[in-house]
Amino acid sequence: MTPQPQNAAALAGLRCPVCAGALSLNPAARVLRCPAGHSFDLAREGYANLLAINRRHAADPGDSKEMVQARHRFLEAGYYRPFMVALAGLCKQYAPTGRPAHLVDAGCGEGSYAAAVYVALAAAGTPPAVVGFDLSRQAVRLAAKRLPAGAFCVGGSFAAPVRDGWADILLNIFSPFAGDEFLRMLRPGGVLLYAVPTARHLFGLKQVLYATPYENPERDTLYKGFTLLGGTSITDTVCIPAGQLQDLFAMTPYYWKTPADGAARLAALPALQTEIGFRFLAYQKQE
Ligand SMILES: C[S@@+](CC[C@H](N)C(=O)[O-])C[C@H]1O[C@@H](n2cnc3c(N)ncnc32)[C@H](O)[C@@H]1O
Ligand SMILES: [Zn+2]
Repeated sequence: MTPQPQNAAALAGLRCPVCAGALSLNPAARVLRCPAGHSFDLAREGYANLLAINRRHAADPGDSKEMVQARHRFLEAGYYRPFMVALAGLCKQYAPTGRPAHLVDAGCGEGSYAAAVYVALAAAGTPPAVVGFDLSRQAVRLAAKRLPAGAFCVGGSFAAPVRDGWADILLNIFSPFAGDEFLRMLRPGGVLLYAVPTARHLFGLKQVLYATPYENPERDTLYKGFTLLGGTSITDTVCIPAGQLQDLFAMTPYYWKTPADGAARLAALPALQTEIGFRFLAYQKQE
């Protein structure tokens, strides 16, 4: 008998990017195939490229290898651990009872959040089926290595490689917001957990970079087809040594729009103390 991979339940959440048919795995050939015969090889790490050819705008779309590695090193250092713990708690709260939750991480990056949620739900007795996708192949490769029990693929949020109504919970952590696709992937009653920065997230960093730093606007935007259930804010103050500051900087949108003098001030610091804060907004797909 061919052994079933440990992520079989998660792979069942994927769909063909060409015809939207269900994908099934041939474990011996390491290929995903739809009924119409479109097939997608699994890479060594176990992920697939499910980005439709006509949507591959750039040769290597999504975050660059350098950005992904900076994010990976920074998240590994643990400063954002309280956000992961809070997110896992929310997933426990919204997970269905009596069966494994189907979880999708849209724009999953290098997989730290999906992995933290998986570990927490598994420890509570019911490991979820986790699908994660991202435009960046480098990010997906790391995510697949980190959480072999998940089904990770290269894919985009605006034409997502996930079956209609499969997701109980959909995570969107600082990745593009694709409301129509999020609604399509969620089952009625399913929950979108959407991370936004709190007013003073990384304010200490902005004080170094800019002469006049602004707080982030905080609004509870309403989205068509969703009911806002509530928000959960987690804030902390962290001290980041010089060695990790450039990784943090490279993860932020400021990296691309900071004047040279601001970047030089940051590079000269021995360490930086800053407030950090995420707000998780929970939106339920209307029945
Ligand atoms: C700020 S990072 C966040 C990654 C991860 N969620 C985290 O918080 O660690 C944004 C991610 O969105 C990905 N991305 C950008 N456009 C995307 C799209 N249209 N669909 C899916 N992912 C996308 C990037 O490659 C990058 O990994
Ligand atoms: Zn197909």
